[in-house]
Amino acid sequence: MTLQLKSPAKINLGLFILGKRQDGYHELETLLQMVSLYDTLELTALPAGIELICDHPGVPSDQTNLVVRAARLLLEKGAAGRALGCRIHLHKNIPAGAGLGGGSGNAGIVLRGLNQLWQLHLSISQLAEIAAQIGSDVPFFLGSPAALGRGRGERLTPLQPAKKFYVILLYPRLAVATSEVYRGLNLDLTKKQKNINILHQFFSESDIASLGAHLHNDLEPVVFKRYPIVQKAKEALSALDPDGVLVSGSGSTVFAIFGDSASARQAFARLQGGDWDLFLTETVTSLSEFLPASLCHDLKP
Ligand code: C5P
Repeated sequence: MTLQLKSPAKINLGLFILGKRQDGYHELETLLQMVSLYDTLELTALPAGIELICDHPGVPSDQTNLVVRAARLLLEKGAAGRALGCRIHLHKNIPAGAGLGGGSGNAGIVLRGLNQLWQLHLSISQLAEIAAQIGSDVPFFLGSPAALGRGRGERLTPLQPAKKFYVILLYPRLAVATSEVYRGLNLDLTKKQKNINILHQFFSESDIASLGAHLHNDLEPVVFKRYPIVQKAKEALSALDPDGVLVSGSGSTVFAIFGDSASARQAFARLQGGDWDLFLTETVTSLSEFLPASLCHDLKP
C-alpha cells in the first residue's frame, strides 16, 4: 500500500521571545500559519527497514533527516515491537534553512501518514509527544493550519482560519542555522511590551491590513545583523507596498502578505529576475487542502 501526501511550509506571523529556559531553549509566543508551498511524500509499506529516497542534493537521506528520525521514533514508541518498515520518497520544493519549517513539516506529515499506513491508531496527543522530541515546530504540522505556539513552540492552541490571504516567499538562497540565530539574541533588546494578543485579534478578524502592520519577529534583528542580504530582501519586498513584510522564524526567508490576490500577483511579477527564489502562495485554511480525506478525520485537536 502507498500513501501520497503533501507537506506544507509555514510562516510565523509573530514571534516573541519571552526568555531563556534552563534547558537552553527559549520560551516564546508565536502565531504559525501554513502556506501553499508543498513538498510531496510517498510512503510505501515494507516488511522491515526504513528507506528514504530524496531527490534534493542539499537534503540528507540518512538518519540525520528528520523524516527518518520521525519514522524510527514512531516505530520505537508506537509499534509495540511489531516488525514494520517503509520506503519514503521525498520530493523537496521548500528550501532548507529557510525558516519555513520544511524538515519539521515533513516529519510531522510522516508521523501522521505512518500512523495510518502501519495502523498504529495512536492519538493526536501521543503523536504530538513524539513530534516534540523531533523538533519544536513538528507538532504544529500534526494539526490545524493556523495556531498559537507557546513554550518552545510545541504547546499549541489551534486557531479558526482567517479568510484566505496571499503570501510571497522570498528565499535569498542562503541557509541559516536556527541555533546560531538564537545564540545571537540579546534578550534585553526584545520588545517585552509587545505580545501576540494584538496579532491574534487582527488574525481572527481577518483584518489583513492591521495584521500586516503588526507583524513582529524578535529574531529578525539578529538575522539582519548576521546576514545583511536578508535585510536587503526585506527592503525589496517592502518597496512593493504589501500589507506587511517579515522574516519567517529564524530566516532566511522574508515573506510579504497581501489581502488580495491581484496585488500579490503584480508584486510577484515585479520581483522576477532578482538573486533569490520566489514563491507565490496563499494561506492554507483547511487540512483537506493537503491531506487525503482518510487522514483529515482523526486530525481534530
Ligand atoms: O527544536 P529545534 O531542534 O527545531 O530547535 C533548533 C535550535 O533552535 C535549538 O537547538 C535551539 O538552539 C534553538 N531554539 C531555541 N528555542 C526555541 C526553539 C529553538 O533556543 N523555542
